[in-house]
Amino acid sequence: MNDDLLKQLDKTKMPRHVAIIMDGNGRWANALGLLRTAGHTAGVKTLKKILTVAVDLNLEALTVYAFSTENWKRPPAEVDFLMHLFSEYIEKEKMEMHEKNVRIRFIGRTDDFSPTIQKQIQGAVNLMKNNTGVKFNIAADYGGQDEIIRAAQNLARKVADGEISAEQISASVFEDELDTVGQPPVDLLIRTGGDQRISNFLLWQSAYAELWFTNTQWPDFTPEEFISALKDFGKRDRRFGGVK
Ligand code: FPP
Repeated sequence: MNDDLLKQLDKTKMPRHVAIIMDGNGRWANALGLLRTAGHTAGVKTLKKILTVAVDLNLEALTVYAFSTENWKRPPAEVDFLMHLFSEYIEKEKMEMHEKNVRIRFIGRTDDFSPTIQKQIQGAVNLMKNNTGVKFNIAADYGGQDEIIRAAQNLARKVADGEISAEQISASVFEDELDTVGQPPVDLLIRTGGDQRISNFLLWQSAYAELWFTNTQWPDFTPEEFISALKDFGKRDRRFGGVK
């Protein structure tokens, strides 16, 4: 990573929370005559590089979309491969992340993952639970609508149990039920792979996110392009529905 590039960033105009839809692994692999799964393997390498930049910049929160609630529809061999990759990634990377003071969290359901992966997830979360650096969220078996429904169900139970009244449900009470509880809203949402849509990612949290799309496929996404996105974010005029 080029230090000069990092220095060009205006630290007063940095996003607190960056979310990334890491799209294009399959197309990247197909274009090279490889299996789609080779694209996911290459995608892990990109993720490692981007997390390193996030640590170097001391970003407050980074959330990546690793597996959506809809991704179970993929061919079983690809799903199995992705599960294996998650498991390997957690086991291989957790000590280094811990040393970098990263606090990992998994958002989404994860209860359909194998008991082994669930244990590995819990192990990594526990290992890093007191860390104070980058909040690194991996969205796995995640869907924004599913997250909102789960939050609504929890609140409905609390109302039924008389813990709170329906009138007490505010945006902040609602946010306390989301998987990202305690984290800032998404400031910058990056999507690689050329499509310009949100795909059920962080629907609530991205209400006022700045969107940044690139045609680059995820395995080709570089720290330099990541910095370009951060620089571009610094130029955006954010009004949050108000006027300046
Ligand atoms: C989207 O590309 C990518 C995914 C569904 C999986 C993302 C996974 C990784 C980047 C690697 C593993 C992540 C972790 C956390 C270890 P696609 O397959 O939809 O590509 P396409 O749009 O070209 O078909």
